[in-house]
Amino acid sequence: PALTQDDLKKLAADKAVDYVKSGMVLGLGTGSTAAFVVDKLGLLLKTGQLTDIIGIPTSKRTEEQARSLSIPLTTLDEHPVLDLAIDGADEVDPDLNLVKGRGGALLREKMVEAASKSFVVVADETKLVSGLGGSKLAMPVEVVQFCWKYNLVRLQEMFKEVGAEAKLRLTPEGKPYVTDNFNYIVDLYFETPIRDGVAAGEEIGKLEGVVEHGLFLNMATAVIIAGKNGVEVKSK
Ligand code: A5P
Repeated sequence: PALTQDDLKKLAADKAVDYVKSGMVLGLGTGSTAAFVVDKLGLLLKTGQLTDIIGIPTSKRTEEQARSLSIPLTTLDEHPVLDLAIDGADEVDPDLNLVKGRGGALLREKMVEAASKSFVVVADETKLVSGLGGSKLAMPVEVVQFCWKYNLVRLQEMFKEVGAEAKLRLTPEGKPYVTDNFNYIVDLYFETPIRDGVAAGEEIGKLEGVVEHGLFLNMATAVIIAGKNGVEVKSK
């Protein structure tokens, strides 16, 4: 039988767990692919194949999952340097730059992954793009609630020439989506891929009231991509 997308996510997750060694301080990612990693870690700890692992979750959702599996947890304040973080991504470009945060956890993800000595990304091949923004799906920007509209207008203006659209992220009930750190998200939808990710990230970051954006540039150490023809590890 043909492999489903979940099968592929699981294959990537299993491969990533090979990077985990007993005694590590680990960043636990957010999203459906990262959830397979957390499940597997829970299992390996339970069977004693891994010991002495301590995790830092990148969202409340992942924290709950890890607790339910009895994975010991800590905070970035207690462990400001992590050995390894494993997380999914929404887009992966040929230089291993990423778009993340469609699941809304970009702020804690970026902090944990920036604090980690290595950062391994797990994804199925549908996440590969030739240029960031190229999937035509959301590129999130987390903004403080107080001035979300100011930021939405400024972001729309910033990317006007490339035909981007900026929208406040809403819950299925039509209320503004609130992140784990109590901010809102403005999603950018690009007509064409972003030409210069570094410049775009810098411009976005300069806006007052922007907390973080979903461009994860030069952060991934390796990307594990699972596709119909097998699992491939790309690293720099
Ligand atoms: C969460 O905020 C995101 O950055 C996720 O890592 C990303 O959305 C990938 O999720 P899936 O593995 O569910 O596609």
